[in-house]
Amino acid sequence: MVDLPVQPFRFKGGKLHLLDQRVLPWKKTWVKCQSARDVFLAIRQMVVRGAPVIGTVAAYGLFLEARKAKKEGQLTRQRIEKAARFLKSARPTAVNLSWALERSLQSLEGKEDMEQALFEEAQRQERENIAWTEKISRIGAEIIPHGARILTICNTGPLATGGYGTALGAMIFAWNQKKKIQIFACETRPYLQGARLTAWELKQLKIPVTLITDGMAAWTMEKKGIDLVLVGADRIALNGDTANKIGTLQLAILAHHFRIPFYPFAPLSSFDPHLASGEEISIEERNPREILFLGNSRIAPSGTEVFNPAFDVTPAKLITGIVTEEGLISPPFSESIPGALKKLP
Ligand code: MRU
Repeated sequence: MVDLPVQPFRFKGGKLHLLDQRVLPWKKTWVKCQSARDVFLAIRQMVVRGAPVIGTVAAYGLFLEARKAKKEGQLTRQRIEKAARFLKSARPTAVNLSWALERSLQSLEGKEDMEQALFEEAQRQERENIAWTEKISRIGAEIIPHGARILTICNTGPLATGGYGTALGAMIFAWNQKKKIQIFACETRPYLQGARLTAWELKQLKIPVTLITDGMAAWTMEKKGIDLVLVGADRIALNGDTANKIGTLQLAILAHHFRIPFYPFAPLSSFDPHLASGEEISIEERNPREILFLGNSRIAPSGTEVFNPAFDVTPAKLITGIVTEEGLISPPFSESIPGALKKLP
């Protein structure tokens, strides 16, 4: 067991406190949420981000709404369902958000005290994150050989999961098993999750990391002899097509070219049983400002057109295997994924 280095949120004193990931690593500040609206804004504005953790935080948001409605004498099932629809719309790509909220709604079945039921469900999801991230990290560490040079993108650690992490969790576990791995992290333009968050988390754990810009990935594979590409996932279709942070698809194409194994990591809750293929995955487009500015400094002429998709979809044919908390899922995915999903509660 590895000590959790960082917690992206905590529920204390009747309030949900979110570690503000927008200002890491410069400042460690907490944003307080007391309603579903507060939580919606925090998810939309990326105070908290990362597919699994936004689901759990949204589950707390639904409880906060129940508590508020009760105080106002307006706690009804309809109001909670409306709040769940609102929270689901905060970010469209990660399926964990709707998965977690659906579970919260199901937890109301047969319960008189809706506020208590939603609180207990959010706490359950928080505990489960620690358990499944430990499993996925342990399973993932098994595919990492001693001395491996690993390339990753975005942030897939404790900040993104509320547990140990997924792909980064496996690297953390491998390091603790004394495998002398080298981690190369793409900075992850434009939001810089790699530079700001992954590098910061690894620093807390005293694990060395080498940061590269996203455009250096091919050259780094060639010159540094990358052995493995390990990434997260936001939504996986039944055929294995995988949506993840923008820039992941180019890593998969490059990995194929250099014959490097490419593994997305995801809990079973990141698989979408309603999607036959990745073509149907809705891709979030974000504010052009994220590209036009670095902090408060403009870096492109005003009026410049911008395309800012937050995710891309890697076709299943480029994926070596998908690491889950229930084990490694291997091709052919159209057979192995439906089989694995039977284990979902
Ligand atoms: O836009 P973000 O920062 O929420 O995107 C996060 C990612 O793409 C992660 O790789 C993914 O959510 C998996 S996190 C365990």
